Amino acid sequence: MISPEARGVHAPPFSDAERAAVYRAIEERRDVRAHFVADPVPQDVLRRVLEAAHHAPSVGFSQPWRFIVVRDRARREAVHGFFESANAEAAGAYEGDRAGAYRRLRLAGILDAPVNLCVVCDEDPARGDGLGRRTMPETARYSTVCAIQNLWLAARAEGLGVGWVSIVDPQKVLSLFRVPARYALVAYLCVGYVRAFAAEPDLERDHWESRLPLDDVIDYEIFTMR
Ligand SMILES: Cc1cc2nc3c(=O)[nH]c(=O)nc-3n(C[C@H](O)[C@H](O)[C@H](O)COP(=O)(O)O)c2cc1C
Repeated sequence: MISPEARGVHAPPFSDAERAAVYRAIEERRDVRAHFVADPVPQDVLRRVLEAAHHAPSVGFSQPWRFIVVRDRARREAVHGFFESANAEAAGAYEGDRAGAYRRLRLAGILDAPVNLCVVCDEDPARGDGLGRRTMPETARYSTVCAIQNLWLAARAEGLGVGWVSIVDPQKVLSLFRVPARYALVAYLCVGYVRAFAAEPDLERDHWESRLPLDDVIDYEIFTMR
């Protein structure tokens, strides 16, 4: 193999341990709904994971994200109420065994996690002057998702669990947090220290869905019908 130096690359390489740590955070990141503990999340730790989020790539370098830090119990209870009604409606869409299986799933930890993050995205950011969004306006939301993934991985390295809640009416959440109309709700996240990180996704453990083999999602040169 040609060494990085021989290729003219002068970026300092990651050590074996640093590289292993990156892959470990990726592999051991979990969506956490149960296992939260009530221990408070120190402000400096929260800032570190938000800093990681803020270093995400963004279309036109527009940085369209906004993170609303929610610790107030009454606000979390309100969102939990939105979740309960949306979840009951979602459960009603399944039939037979699948309906029973859905009802047994734990799909949010809004009240157990001491910190919630309401992540919203400016749909038409002035920053970046439209670069990249003329053809794909949705890239502002994609950028915000990149920020969330950075936060999720940094949180894992900090021993913090993160659970993504999408089973809520976005308009109700936006109005609860008085978010202006130009912003979209991208994620409602539950954040807190955890007793354990599961070895496999909860939905895999509960036989709802399983991980595809990598080769099922890779094509070469053109899309392959399977
Ligand atoms: C966009 C998005 C929305 C999600 N919404 C929910 C949700 O509402 N409730 C939930 O329990 N998990 C939610 N999840 C988490 C997924 O269920 C989880 O990522 C998946 O089962 C794989 O598990 P893992 O993240 O632990 O690897 C969401 C994940 C993403 C990326």
